[in-house]
Amino acid sequence: MIELRNVSLSFGDKQVLKDVSFGIESGKTLVVIGTSGAGKSTVLKCICGLARPQEGQILIDGLDVMKADEKTLRRIRSKIGMVFQYSALFDYLTVFENVAFGLRKHTALSEGEIREKVVETLSMVNLSHTLDMLPSELSGGMRKRVALARSLVMEPSFLLYDEPTSGLDPITTAATNKLINMGRDLGKTSLVVTHDIPTINSVADKIVFIHSGSVIYEGFYNDMIKSDNPYVVQFMNGRTEGPIATIG
Ligand SMILES: Nc1ncnc2c1ncn2[C@@H]1O[C@H](COP(=O)(O)OP(=O)(O)O)[C@@H](O)[C@H]1O
Ligand SMILES: [Mg+2]
Repeated sequence: MIELRNVSLSFGDKQVLKDVSFGIESGKTLVVIGTSGAGKSTVLKCICGLARPQEGQILIDGLDVMKADEKTLRRIRSKIGMVFQYSALFDYLTVFENVAFGLRKHTALSEGEIREKVVETLSMVNLSHTLDMLPSELSGGMRKRVALARSLVMEPSFLLYDEPTSGLDPITTAATNKLINMGRDLGKTSLVVTHDIPTINSVADKIVFIHSGSVIYEGFYNDMIKSDNPYVVQFMNGRTEGPIATIG
């Protein structure tokens, strides 16, 4: 499981995370919501050790990310799959090679073993027919599935998604949400950063709302939609009136 305890982080004199605490139970999907600049991506960076908070504790399967040496950090990172907003595939490599990339780089598997794993993983995301295609020949939704396959093939315990559905049409969004839920069916523990209400609705076991670097609400979706917390009400209804300042 993943646990953040009283995590605070500043970049220079700008405090970006303030005393952030939350946990994700094994096999569950936690959704982190909040407006732009709230600190959501920074939370993800802290979890994979790409940003170092000044205070607090981050535990991944009991290992403390903040105290980890390089070797432990590599071990922690090998348990984590990141799925970025933009699929970030290598344009010049085929789908097969994109998914094989991490296995070639980080394992000593034989060519036959790599082929078997890549083919199996691509069939899980219904992309068996695309092995020899280039990313440019795929739709946006298919590219997302390749990106997910590239993470899944490394057999991570944790999947972190940064705004996986922003900028997608409603149908591709629904397909991406299905994929996130597929991760849950595979027993993965997931953290999804999003502002997309349908995504929150379809994937969240629990929700953490971050505003200005602080957790201002934590709860289940069904409780959140009934909440009278003014931040939650403003966010969920997309209002300009409320405690969250808007531009213009
Ligand atoms: N490397 C950095 N150096 C300085 N400020 C940063 C850095 N990364 C993020 N920030 C600032 O931290 C705040 C939170 O950023 P971020 O976590 O990316 O927000 P979100 O993902 O919620 O939109 C923003 O004000 C951003 O400008
Ligand atoms: Mg972000």
